[in-house]
Amino acid sequence: MSRLVPASHRLCLAPMMDCTDRHCRYFVRQISRHVRLYTEMVTVQAILRGRRDRLLAFDAAEHPVALQLGGDDPAALAMCARIGEELGYDEINLNVGCPSPRVRHGAFGACLMLRPEAVADAVAAMRARVRVPVTVKHRIGVDDRDAYDDMARFVEVVAAAGCDAFIVHARKAWLDGLSPRQNREIPPLRHADVHRLKRDRPDLVIVTNGGIVALDAAEDHLRHVDGVMIGRAAYDQPYLLAEADRRILGDGSAEAPSRSEVVARMLPYIAREVAAGEPLARITLHMRGLFHGAPRAGLWRRHLSEHARQPGAGVGVVADALALVDR
Ligand SMILES: Cc1cc2nc3c(=O)[nH]c(=O)nc-3n(C[C@H](O)[C@H](O)[C@H](O)COP(=O)(O)O)c2cc1C
Repeated sequence: MSRLVPASHRLCLAPMMDCTDRHCRYFVRQISRHVRLYTEMVTVQAILRGRRDRLLAFDAAEHPVALQLGGDDPAALAMCARIGEELGYDEINLNVGCPSPRVRHGAFGACLMLRPEAVADAVAAMRARVRVPVTVKHRIGVDDRDAYDDMARFVEVVAAAGCDAFIVHARKAWLDGLSPRQNREIPPLRHADVHRLKRDRPDLVIVTNGGIVALDAAEDHLRHVDGVMIGRAAYDQPYLLAEADRRILGDGSAEAPSRSEVVARMLPYIAREVAAGEPLARITLHMRGLFHGAPRAGLWRRHLSEHARQPGAGVGVVADALALVDR
């Protein structure tokens, strides 16, 4: 393992809008104690104008947890990075990978790959205000600017501003013509470019991302890069992370919790959140994939989907769903 990489950077849960909210992250933390968690992207406008306490809330159990920011104005990003650090986030990450038209209209996300100097200014401004690592999540390219050398130059400029780690979604983004979803599926994966980046810049912390669906594959990538980030597979089949602490994150004594233990660990949290007024379905939404691949997984999923939205639904719904699957 590189001297520079905190152990937990070796395996990260990707930031995913409408998925990796605080409930999802707390849930994943019950499966792996050490995987590094990322928030959904939060724009600087939302933080500076919105309900900060609600947008940025997290549970102490989530550490290590990174706040992902969306924006391009160095002063606003620096202010939000500072707010994130004061709230206790362990890392501030800048989104340079989102291709959505709305984000592009705001001139941030993936289109910032075409403006490495602007990203460097943003990173420098954030680093000047916080002590926690400032990192960038980007693509291997955008549109026809997708040669390896384009990415290498982007990284060189941003690294010079002090970026602490680069998380590379190993496919380019087409800014015109593809939806965000298509931009996660159609451009081919080019992990070899990310491996090469690490070879060319061994001094930098490089994390690769995209299409990694199992710990075996993660271990293969870790022979070439410092870390791996997993998104959809970890959301749809979160139990794939159960062996991560022991196999990847250096905690030799960690025993994978059973799926039932994960549910048991969630029950006090759910009871607390529901008592505070949080709708049950907002929490169970993220737990539906827990039994993926196990017998009777459909019963678990269906019970949660059918009952979690009913008036007065609480922890009993989850206990009943568990009883159906855990016979
Ligand atoms: C529903 C969804 C929402 C996403 N939202 C974000 C986001 O807010 N910020 C970001 O950097 N990437 C976002 N992504 C991209 C993921 O972080 C990741 O780069 C991508 O899904 C590829 O990894 P995977 O193949 O392991 O899922 C999102 C992906 C999905 C599926």
